[in-house]
This record gives sequence, C-alpha cells and structure tokens, in this order.
Amino acid sequence: MNVLELARPELRAMQPYSSARMEAGAGELFLNANESAWAPDGAPDTDIRRYTEPQPPGLLGVLAELYGVRRDQLLIGRGSDEAIDLLVRAFCRAGRDAIAIQPPTFGMYAVCAHVQDAGVIEVPLAADFTLDVDGLLAALTPAVKLVFVCTPNNPSGQPVPRASIERLARALAGRALLVVDEAYVEFVDDASLVSVADLLDRHDNLAVLRTLSKAWALAGARIGCLLANPAVIALLRRIMPPYPLPRPCVALALAALSPVAQALAHERLGIVRAERARMTTALRGVPGVREVLPSQANFLAVRFDDAGAVYRQLLGGGIVVRDIRRYPRLGDALRITLGTPAENDRVLQVLREAKP
Ligand SMILES: Cc1ncc(COP(=O)(O)O)c(C=O)c1O
Repeated sequence: MNVLELARPELRAMQPYSSARMEAGAGELFLNANESAWAPDGAPDTDIRRYTEPQPPGLLGVLAELYGVRRDQLLIGRGSDEAIDLLVRAFCRAGRDAIAIQPPTFGMYAVCAHVQDAGVIEVPLAADFTLDVDGLLAALTPAVKLVFVCTPNNPSGQPVPRASIERLARALAGRALLVVDEAYVEFVDDASLVSVADLLDRHDNLAVLRTLSKAWALAGARIGCLLANPAVIALLRRIMPPYPLPRPCVALALAALSPVAQALAHERLGIVRAERARMTTALRGVPGVREVLPSQANFLAVRFDDAGAVYRQLLGGGIVVRDIRRYPRLGDALRITLGTPAENDRVLQVLREAKP
C-alpha cells in the first residue's frame, strides 16, 4: 500500500495554491508578486521586500546534510509544531480519524488533533516511562492514522530504543504513519543509537521531526523539519502556506549551522550532558527530592515531597521551572531545564536553602 493512501483523499485531489515564486522562471525584472519596488528605509537586507523561496534551497541543502537525508525527504517549517499540525491536517479526517499518543508526553500532538476534530487514543507509558510497544499496538483502531512517539520523551526524558521504533514501523505498515519526534535527540549521550532518520528509506510510513529550537539555540527563529517519504513531503507542501519561512529566520539558521557555529554548538552539547549528570547527582542529595528521573534530554523531571511548595520557593528566588503535576504519573514533579553551570548552581542553592 502506498503511504499516501492513508492521507485524506480530498487533499490528494485538491488543486493547491500556485504562488508567484513557484511560477517564476528566469528573468531580470520581477513584477509578478505585487511586492514593493523599494526596500524599507534602513533595511539591512534589501531583498526583504521580496517574498522568500517556499523552501530556500541553501537551507534545504544544509539541513539535508545535517540530518543525513535527501532534499526530497525534508520539509522545513515554522518549528516542528507546524509539521505536527500539517501531519494531523493531512492524515486525519475531522470527526473520523485519530492519532495515538503515550502520556505523559508533549502536549501539541493532542492539541493539533483536537483542533482538527480528530480522536486521541492514549496508551500511557509504562510505570518506568518506557514505551509499551505491545500495549500500543493492541490499542490501535483502524481510525488511527498517526502514531506519535517522542524520543527522548518530553517531559520524562527517556529515549525509546531504535529496536522498538523499527518494530512499530513494521507493524504499522499500511495502517498508520509513525511520527518519531526527535526534538531532543542531540542531547542523548550517543545520539547515533537513537535517531532513526537513516531508516526512512526502509519504511515509507516513518516520519521524523527535528528542530533547531533546542540544541541549535534558535527557538525564537521558529525553524523545524519533517523528514519523511518524498510523497508525504510533497503532500504537506500542497497544504502549507506559500511563504512559510521569514527571510531573517532563514539567515539566522544558516549562520547557526556554519561549520564554526556547529563546532561551538557541539561543545555546548557536551556542557549540557555534563551538567545533566552533575545536576542529577546533586538533586538526588537535596532534602525533599524523592526522585530525579533519568534523562537524556536538556531537562530533568524531578519528584518532590511537596512540588507545589518547591515551585513557589524557586519562584521566590527568581527561578521559573515547569510545573508538570497535571501529567499522569508525574503528580509530584517539576521539570527543570538545564541552564548554564552558574544557573544550575543557583537552582541548587535555592533548593538547599529551603525551610523544611
Ligand atoms: C517534544 C517536542 N516536540 C516539538 C516541540 C516543538 O518545537 P519547535 O520549537 O520546533 O516547534 C517541542 C517544544 O518544546 C517539544 O518538546
């Protein structure tokens, strides 16, 4: 079965919008897109008056190399959030189809499903926050078109073994698209053991989400990617707005991915990994800490005797962490993003000064 047969048939048949940029051939004077004839006063980039390429070839090339895929397997969007939304809209018919998720997990999968009026099948992670592959497969109904798996998972922090992803991809062939969210994969001690981008050619029903928001320090630029079968990429491009990527954001991404910037980013990933180990040990020795979940991401989920009091105490010290008590199995936990070594010391200091 062709993976596109899982997508909404009316979208496959739809005539997509054809933008001026897409239709433009060679030329010297472009008067085809109703752009201004002048750049704004003082603009550092005078091309800002022009619409951008829908998928800028320079950035596409750099990201394809970074993720080890072909250009036709890559879609660049406004954060991986946009790719999640596009996938749900492309594969789920309102009121009929569904997605599957494993709580506690990233909230946007369910939000996008609700916006599309798609169902949400919840198969909780096991008590130790590992993925229950058999339970997940047993819970699937024919309505499920997308299965989201987050690795390492937000907010619990554990990666899903490659073998589980491969098993799922095989089991879901012809039934559903498996969407593996690797937003935090760069932080894993051995990322090559976890990323599954290299499996795309073997499974046409596999898709991978990547982002420049975390390891690449560009959350404000909103650049994220979907890696998938070329037919899936082409389908999503048909429903994506015509000019999704702001020119200044593309320039920022290219700068952040220059060889020098990549070397610096790798150094910083090393600092995050070292701080993760240091903070895990240090937090385990703080009074009132019940458990620090083992994490392979740039955050720690920490259980406290009284998470609410600790949240307020950190806030009193000027430190904002994420209250994750609303998530199943994490009713006593806070999620603490790893900061610089000095920032992490400040967290420890405030926690140690706590009055019992
Ligand atoms: C697991 C996961 N996926 C995706 C995202 C969205 O990232 P982006 O900034 O690329 O939209 C986040 C953001 O926190 C996340 O935690």
